[in-house]
Amino acid sequence: MTEGPLGIVSAMPQELAAVLALMPEERRVDLAGRSFWHGQLGGHEVVAVVSGIGKVAAATTATLLLQRFCATGLVFTGVAGGLGDGVRVGDTVVATAFLQHDMDASPLFARHEIPGYGFSRFSTHRSWQQGLSAAARRTAASLAATVGAEVVARFGLEATQVHEGLVISGDRFVSSEAESTALRQQLPDALAVEMEGAAVAQVCHDHGVPFAAVRCVSDRADQAAHVDFVRFVSEVTCHTSAHTVLDWLSHLDTPQA
Ligand code: ADE
Repeated sequence: MTEGPLGIVSAMPQELAAVLALMPEERRVDLAGRSFWHGQLGGHEVVAVVSGIGKVAAATTATLLLQRFCATGLVFTGVAGGLGDGVRVGDTVVATAFLQHDMDASPLFARHEIPGYGFSRFSTHRSWQQGLSAAARRTAASLAATVGAEVVARFGLEATQVHEGLVISGDRFVSSEAESTALRQQLPDALAVEMEGAAVAQVCHDHGVPFAAVRCVSDRADQAAHVDFVRFVSEVTCHTSAHTVLDWLSHLDTPQA
């Protein structure tokens, strides 16, 4: 087993707040306009940080975690827009792979292919993904205990599901039916869309360290996305994602298994 903390990344402060609330006596280190929180979570040494929104902010943050904080692997936790059939607000998506939907160096390279890599999809770490899926199912089964029965009733979260599959990233908040339909046509197996994961996956691939991601669905990437997103992020997601990561770490024997 390699020594070093696990990096936990969220795009926005609201998403990381509940993780930090679960970390006793964390120490703060400020670097490159970010606050890195060093501490313990679920019996493991972690460094938690808000990356900022978008692929560049996420790649910078991931690189700092690996190079300066010697993180031995990274986990992304936050929200995403649901794209796949049956991926509803309140569901959880655990990524099996990431792709940049706005990468287009055609006709030099195939659509979505990352120049120099020869492929477009970065797989996540299999056993971490499986562990996070199991943790997300346990969180879904006890959602009322985590977010409160009133929130479950108000957001209609009585039967939330956990999905596993492709998550796509791009520097665009997808907020119209036309955009999400176009993405579904191009990438029929995409379950959810967000703005950071594929960048972090690429940085982890470059460093040869494991990466996994759990995203709670805050909206359906349509006209109502911005309204649903704001309501959902503060009241629901931060708690469910943080709970899932804590549960996963509590069941993880060896951080680099
Ligand atoms: N993150 C959460 N919802 C999103 C959306 N609709 N588009 C991009 N990123 C998101």
